[in-house]
Amino acid sequence: MSARTVLLASPRSFCAGVERAITIVERLLDRAGPPVYVYHHIVHNLHVIERLRGKGAVFVDDVDEVPDGATLVFSAHGVAPAVGSRARGRGLDPVDATCPLVAKVHSEVHRALKEDRHVILIGHDGHDESDGVRGIDPERVTLVESTADVEELDLAGRDLAYACQTTLSQTESAGIIAALKQRYPDIEDPPSEDICYATTNRQNALSAVLAEADFALIVGSRYSSNTTRLWELARELNVEARLIEDSGDIEPDWLDNKDKVALTAGASAPSELVDGVIERLAELGPIRVEERTTAVETMEFHLPGSLR
Ligand code: F3S
Repeated sequence: MSARTVLLASPRSFCAGVERAITIVERLLDRAGPPVYVYHHIVHNLHVIERLRGKGAVFVDDVDEVPDGATLVFSAHGVAPAVGSRARGRGLDPVDATCPLVAKVHSEVHRALKEDRHVILIGHDGHDESDGVRGIDPERVTLVESTADVEELDLAGRDLAYACQTTLSQTESAGIIAALKQRYPDIEDPPSEDICYATTNRQNALSAVLAEADFALIVGSRYSSNTTRLWELARELNVEARLIEDSGDIEPDWLDNKDKVALTAGASAPSELVDGVIERLAELGPIRVEERTTAVETMEFHLPGSLR
């Protein structure tokens, strides 16, 4: 039996924003002790959530669930200003683990609104990040998810700007931006790219290995936007793909007649999960692992001053 090739995409797994958010919760658990309350999931990965829960993190959906005087953290995806106001109104002093690249999108939207523009946010309805950005001014920030949504906009005569959720597919967003510009040629671009470096790098790395693969395994949570976009990318390129939380999800018959397996992980999936998948693949037959690197990431984000 000849060895199956595992084409390991690099970069994969944690980005700088996820590392920072998890470190913030861990430091608070070490210094203030449990419980540490976190508004929504700190990052979208069930393994990360369970590990932090085991150390004393408590994940809540509403600020009202946080007891007086408790430590509260806002997740990497950011929150609407009203959530911060409610927390401060309760006398809580939230620690903000919002990824700086999400915070950048918030700043751009604030600036566009201040210039009296209506903002069109390209994103996914119900995702924490889009909810947070839309919550800046729900009357003047309109979400679009598709070119069909662009067709339904009725904003003629308004000064417009657009912004993007940081974890979108590059190809999907390009189509929506083109549709926006066709309808509203004067719409203002964001001052710099909103889709973040980690999303772009993981999509490019996966594209490179998909060119050779006949199957793809994407490690991460289906609640994770950037992970789901990786799975969609494989499907767009006509490569059969499975999105898995961990090695336990792999069904051996998926690999029947599959000689070249692309393997990657979303930005919120720990690298140990990828190691576990490689071990599982090795149990299912001989493998040869080839790592393909399309970018080297050196990005690091500072912790809040009080936690350094
Ligand atoms: Fe930030 Fe992008 Fe990661 S927005 S949390 S660097 S996926």
